[in-house]
Amino acid sequence: MPIKWKNEYTLGIKTIDMQHKKFVSILSNLNDSLHKLEPKALDEAISKLKEYSKYHIEAENKLFEKLDYPDKKIHIEEHEKFLKYIDDLKDKLSKSNNIQTSIDLIDYLEDWMISHEQNMDKKYVPFFIKNGVI
Ligand SMILES: [Fe+2]
Ligand SMILES: [Fe+2]
Repeated sequence: MPIKWKNEYTLGIKTIDMQHKKFVSILSNLNDSLHKLEPKALDEAISKLKEYSKYHIEAENKLFEKLDYPDKKIHIEEHEKFLKYIDDLKDKLSKSNNIQTSIDLIDYLEDWMISHEQNMDKKYVPFFIKNGVI
């Protein structure tokens, strides 16, 4: 199912919410390109995803370091795993001539995004707000 932004994903920190929204729209483009079966568009969509994931993850990591967020270690490790997964994704997609495998990979990304956002990102919200990040 193509991913769509829902109001309930809003965490209440403006810059982070904007980045998460953008991330969802990049994922949804990736889904579109996959269904259109255009290898060039798919390639571009993955590069965009990679670039934006790095940007967003670095923005969160920097805030963790700056504010010395108590749960930063485990959160940064999760981010790293995700970036590694995206690095492998291009490879997996180019090797797989099975559309279902590709759809499963994108589904995984979408699930990761929502569950990371709702479980891990949500936890830093009170700490960020207390420290003036709004
Ligand atoms: Fe995030
Ligand atoms: Fe995060």
